[in-house]
Amino acid sequence: MAPVNVVIVGGSYAGLHIAHSLLRDVPDAQVTLINPSTSFFWNIAAPRIVAKPKAFRTEQYLLPIKDAFAGYRPDAFRFIAGTASAIDTTAKTVSVNSNGGASAAVPYDYLVIASGSTTSATSGSLTGTSIPFKQANHDDMEELIKSAQGHISGAKEIVIGGAGPIGVELAGELAEAVEQSGNAGKVSITLVSATARVLPMLKPSASSAARKMLEQRKIKIITSKRVMGVETPADDGSSWTVSLEGGDKLSADLYIPTTGVVPNNSFIPAEFLDKDGWVTVNSEMRVQSSDGKSQPIFAAGDITNNSMRLSFKAIEQAHVAAANLKADIIGTGAIKTFEQGDGIMMVVPVGETGGTGQIFGFVPFSFMVKMIKSKHFFIDKAAGALAGKA
Ligand SMILES: Cc1cc2nc3c(=O)[nH]c(=O)nc-3n(C[C@H](O)[C@H](O)[C@H](O)COP(=O)(O)OP(=O)(O)OC[C@H]3O[C@@H](n4cnc5c(N)ncnc54)[C@H](O)[C@@H]3O)c2cc1C
Ligand SMILES: *[C@@H]1O[C@H](CO)[C@@H](O)[C@H](O)[C@H]1NC(C)=O
Ligand SMILES: *[C@@H]1O[C@H](CO)[C@@H](O)[C@H](O)[C@H]1NC(C)=O
Repeated sequence: MAPVNVVIVGGSYAGLHIAHSLLRDVPDAQVTLINPSTSFFWNIAAPRIVAKPKAFRTEQYLLPIKDAFAGYRPDAFRFIAGTASAIDTTAKTVSVNSNGGASAAVPYDYLVIASGSTTSATSGSLTGTSIPFKQANHDDMEELIKSAQGHISGAKEIVIGGAGPIGVELAGELAEAVEQSGNAGKVSITLVSATARVLPMLKPSASSAARKMLEQRKIKIITSKRVMGVETPADDGSSWTVSLEGGDKLSADLYIPTTGVVPNNSFIPAEFLDKDGWVTVNSEMRVQSSDGKSQPIFAAGDITNNSMRLSFKAIEQAHVAAANLKADIIGTGAIKTFEQGDGIMMVVPVGETGGTGQIFGFVPFSFMVKMIKSKHFFIDKAAGALAGKA
């Protein structure tokens, strides 16, 4: 059989899983993985990483991607450190701008879109200060993280926008970092929620548990107020102003937005996107085109129109996409399908000693959240995710 070119855009939870799966099981697959960062970022631990620079070693959360592929035939795998800028579905090529500046058209027989999502804190679009909750555009993750850690540890008035899991986890970590560094009382942390309760997607008892833990850590909580805007004065040392719905203003020397997920879709043809910019896929993770044409293109993870944008859902989708891609290439094999379901699984640490969450219908006790996640943010799973073993 002739070699089959599979191009994968995005080297994170979903893309890595699919790359390994093909390399393991399809002898004729030639896999090209494109990702701007040469390291995989265990972003699940980002709230602790940015708040507590010493909690983990850099190599625990930034892991070189290439090393994880060293075990395959060298001609079967290629990593391009760069960014996809366009897809030509007629010529079947992906335009890639490599980090070094060169651009090229990379041909594919099959294409996998796993470009995920980003957050406004990561891009720093609102404040000019990047707090990297996700892999970013360039291969400068370590620098970005160090800079974010510096901004955070130097801040005396921190305002966090949004009280979803990231906002709550971050508030807990920041308050604990302040206590641990002996600065209790010298740094104010305010959490602003547009909803009436924190963690609005979880059961009310989880919300009240989180609220109580945050208040014990002296975090001010403002509910039912949306953040309307942030003014960041020039480098003159004066504070920022965070404007709230209704006209209230908060002064801050750091504002961190934690809401909103933005699809990384700038290179994706419009006919593959829904009205919010996510890639439409069917249950087999095949990309659906609004012009009705069938394409040898799969997508998995945050970038798809499946609304539960969680890493374990990204990996479940990757599993299905990889199985169906393998079946297409080899010509045999069972077709798999993905249904995101409506069960909620979320554990939310509030500092190292506890937290809350929801595991299907059940709100776990704080000590359980401590055992499951608060102690280590699953950091030991990073190498497995990179190796496609998650
Ligand atoms: C702070 C934080 C904490 C989280 N905690 C949890 C948690 O505890 N549990 C959980 O299940 N989920 C959690 N999530 C959600 C989880 O991070 C996402 O669901 C997961 O990252 C999705 O993986 P993915 O592979 O689809 O895409 P992403 O992780 O978004 O990765 C996409 C990759 O594609 C690359 N890319 C984008 N555009 C291009 C391009 N044009 N060319 C080349 N490469 C490109 C990006 O650089 C990135 O590396 C958290 C999210 C955040 C922000
Ligand atoms: C992801 O999308 C954001 C928002 O459009 C953008 O700032 C960022 O550069 C994109 N990342 C990549 C890798 O394309
Ligand atoms: C995603 O879009 C496709 C095509 O429009 C649709 O069939 C599918 O049901 C959507 N998925 C979800 C989870 O809404």
